[in-house]
Amino acid sequence: MTDGIDRAIRDQFPILAKKNYLVSHSLGAMPVGAREGLMQYADEWETKGVVAWEEGWWELPVTIGDKVGAIIGAPRGSVGMQPNVSLATGVFLSSLPFEGKRNKIVTTDMNFPTNLYLFEGWESAGARVVRVPTKDDVSVETERLIAAIDAETQVVAISHVLFRSSYIQDVAAVVAKAHAVDALVLIDVYQSAGTVPLHVSDLGVDAAVGGCLKWLCGGPGNAFLYVRPDRARELKPRLTGWQSHEKPFAFDRDSFRRAEGAWRFLTGTPTIATMRAAEAGLGIVHAVGMDKIRAKSLRLTRLILDRCDREGWPVNSPRDDAVRGGTVTIALPDAEQLKDELIRNDILVDYRPSAGVRIAPHFYNTEEEVLAALDALAAITGAKR
Ligand SMILES: Cc1ncc(COP(=O)(O)O)c(C=O)c1O
Repeated sequence: MTDGIDRAIRDQFPILAKKNYLVSHSLGAMPVGAREGLMQYADEWETKGVVAWEEGWWELPVTIGDKVGAIIGAPRGSVGMQPNVSLATGVFLSSLPFEGKRNKIVTTDMNFPTNLYLFEGWESAGARVVRVPTKDDVSVETERLIAAIDAETQVVAISHVLFRSSYIQDVAAVVAKAHAVDALVLIDVYQSAGTVPLHVSDLGVDAAVGGCLKWLCGGPGNAFLYVRPDRARELKPRLTGWQSHEKPFAFDRDSFRRAEGAWRFLTGTPTIATMRAAEAGLGIVHAVGMDKIRAKSLRLTRLILDRCDREGWPVNSPRDDAVRGGTVTIALPDAEQLKDELIRNDILVDYRPSAGVRIAPHFYNTEEEVLAALDALAAITGAKR
């Protein structure tokens, strides 16, 4: 490949030899090393038995969290692994007071629904959810979002990159306004981590949630929660467990003394197998590097946009490179059937209702694969080439 991304990297993802894999916004391709990670887990369990807890298992949520942190710009010890984003978000929200006047959760209707469901549940704990609407189903206007943030806002909870359209939200502007009125900012980086360079420390967000299943090629069961270290010291989650105790193996039943950093936001027994599977993908993404990954993503998504223009296909993703993440959503009618037909042709993409067919090239894809998928789409829709 001509993009400085070694062919050997591609060989680490076996599915690429059999399928045109353009769906990394949904489930990243499995690296060979993930199977090895799962075997390592099985070997450890089989040969070390209970001693495995003392030889790395117990610390794994933070050991793997540090590998995520190296990609998203978080300091060591500030990221902990969680089973999924819904729970990670719940743990963070459980550390905030919603009983008083400062009880607004400011979000947008372009957030991933799991977060919206969770926020709704928090209304019974006193939260008032303010959803800033999208105007075009692609973006949420920053001015509108900022205007919704006021002295009654407890937390602004938004997606960094919107899953429907791949629009990149202006997080820095949101942080500036939120912090000016003493509100916190929680971003969901599921659709940015691994495809859009991201530095949570520099952005100044108070917390971030995301997962390794998509662009980080780590498989399901590997979400994470970052909390800014100074905030972590102040916050007291209600949703806790023995992993968030300072001395869990004291089995103290009289006092709960909170651990520090990422540990403070953990709960119960961690999911070792999933984390062992995640290590390989995180290692590859880190080694390839976010700048190279982003440059390639922009080049390949631009190819898709150009073809859409030639075919006259409407697009539900930003044109501007500066605000476009890794996915292009093509707003064709019958998107579900188109997706099914492409999958029958071994071209893996997905679709979202009222959005369209989503195509997501990653660092391991080639230009030829993207063009082949577009040719197939044109043939299916009967468009003139
Ligand atoms: C932006 C975003 N947030 C969250 C999720 C999923 O959350 P959970 O880990 O709770 O399933 C997804 C997709 O699966 C997503 O795209």
